Amino acid sequence: MPKEINALPRTLFTFILYFVKRQSVDFGFMFFTIIFWPLNESLSPYFVKILINRLVDLTPGIDAPFRLLALPLIGLLTSWLLMEISIRLYGMLSIYVWPRFRKDIRESILSYTQHQSHSYFSEHFTGGLANKIAELPRACEHILDILIGNFFCTMLTFSISLGVVFQVSVVFGLILFFFVAFFVGLTILNIGNINHTAKIHAEAISELDGQIVDSLSCMLAVRLFARASYELKYLNRYQTDEIQKAQKASWAIEKASFFKGLLTFVFLIITFLTLVYAWNNNWITIGDCSLVTMTFFNLMGLIWHSSFHITQIAKEVGVSKAALSLLSVPHEIKNHPNATPLLVRGGAICLDSATFYYKPKAHLFSQISVQIKAGQKVGLVGYSGSGKTTFVHLILRLYDLNSGSILIDNQDISKVTQASLHAQIAMIPQDPMLFHRTIFENIQYGRLDATAAEVVEAARLAHCMGFIDHLEKGFQTMVGERGIKLSGGQRQRIAIARAILKNAPILIMDEATSALDSITEKFIQNNLKRVMQHATTLVIAHRLSTLNYMDRILVFDKGAIIEDGTVSNLLAKKGHFSKLWERQAGGFLPE
Ligand SMILES: Nc1ncnc2c1ncn2[C@@H]1O[C@H](COP(=O)(O)OP(=O)(O)OP(=O)(O)O)[C@@H](O)[C@H]1O
Ligand SMILES: [Mg+2]
Repeated sequence: MPKEINALPRTLFTFILYFVKRQSVDFGFMFFTIIFWPLNESLSPYFVKILINRLVDLTPGIDAPFRLLALPLIGLLTSWLLMEISIRLYGMLSIYVWPRFRKDIRESILSYTQHQSHSYFSEHFTGGLANKIAELPRACEHILDILIGNFFCTMLTFSISLGVVFQVSVVFGLILFFFVAFFVGLTILNIGNINHTAKIHAEAISELDGQIVDSLSCMLAVRLFARASYELKYLNRYQTDEIQKAQKASWAIEKASFFKGLLTFVFLIITFLTLVYAWNNNWITIGDCSLVTMTFFNLMGLIWHSSFHITQIAKEVGVSKAALSLLSVPHEIKNHPNATPLLVRGGAICLDSATFYYKPKAHLFSQISVQIKAGQKVGLVGYSGSGKTTFVHLILRLYDLNSGSILIDNQDISKVTQASLHAQIAMIPQDPMLFHRTIFENIQYGRLDATAAEVVEAARLAHCMGFIDHLEKGFQTMVGERGIKLSGGQRQRIAIARAILKNAPILIMDEATSALDSITEKFIQNNLKRVMQHATTLVIAHRLSTLNYMDRILVFDKGAIIEDGTVSNLLAKKGHFSKLWERQAGGFLPE
């Protein structure tokens, strides 16, 4: 497992280098094994030159050809054989090196993304994030593969060939040099545009993927409102956008290729005319002619290949940069540099002048101060949108306060490690999230080392056995994505069982029993009261009868705590709570 990463390198170059360094020996070998390919490309024209010059001097039927031609022939064959072995070794190394490279990147960005804030996940499409996490390792591999397997080889071939050609004739050496210089210059001129259009295209793809995933995950809403064709139409605008951006990116590549084609043609004309002129004036031998022609054609092939690969790289750089700019965003909520683990003795919670807002100038909480004693059972009540969920999210440090502090057993939660804070709080959220795994795994998630008997006991306490026993595969039943194959109340009960198993000193229930009938709710409440009797408990409920056994009620209104007391005190006070109590119809608060 990679160690936890607190910051990802933010530029693509440093990002790739970071992962190459972690496999430096592997990549060193890859560079070494590939070296014989450029050697063969640049040296074989030289052996062909010797071969042709000797052939010209031979008289067929009189001289012994095999003896006289042995040197260039053995040279050619050896060079070819070494190249063949080199490429095979590179191929075999690739089988092991690339998957490890991809895994390392994927694991690191996943681990880094896991520590992004709650708002980060609320602001980005899960589908878009998944697309980028899948694309980044693939694109980085492609870039590096091209750099080693193509650019490095082309540059080496070019350097050696240039030396060989300069030895034959300075004129051809210069022609070759200027051709490559112009070609590379032209490519560099275009690379910015190709890169830019590819990045925009990559963003359009990830937006489209995000929209498709969003539409598919709301399929029930689509069906219930009979909006299938509306959804297609809705997605169509993202499709059109993706197509337009894909075409723009492809046009940028095509335009660049046109000018490079033109340059190559002019260069060929110059080379051929000079070759004929040079031979006619006895500057060069027939062998030299073949060396120049062969080298030029070899190089042209390689350089064309490279230019194709440069456009591929420009595209992949665009894709990777788009992914990296989203995935390498610095963590919003960081552990304090000297963070220590939270030590909970009783579980007292204290908010001291806590101010918080989602958007500047729209304060939700202004300077609220509350003290909750260790082991106290507190009910949180208030109209929808009054800030109850946000209040508990702040205790979990899913958001940082804008000012003030929150202390648990006198330890500031912004100065303890987030993992230790979350380990000490069992939270049952408003909309419990289940993994598409078995019921057993979903419950055991609360404490991974819990025994099967403990999982079953937690399920029993959360009143899950009734429905689990009726499932064909019992605890081994897969629950569907986000628990879709279970009823709302069954999902809630599994979430409760998971929290019971966690057995943390602080328990938070956010509408955790809202989908249950009152008999089941009562049964679970009694069990919870017993098994978590020492836990500091915060219970958010719209159904006020749920709060009867609470030591204390906090009444929220527009982000302020307007009443604080026991149920009987608050009823006697005839304030906001008592109005809610009286108006409660069917056990729920009016909206
Ligand atoms: N992630 C967010 N970004 C911006 N505003 C938010 C966010 N989450 C909640 N809010 C706003 O903050 C206010 C309080 O929301 P909160 O979820 O805390 O209310 P609540 O009391 O739990 O309501 P309910 O009883 O409906 O669950 C609401 O106005 C809501 O729109
Ligand atoms: Mg809420």
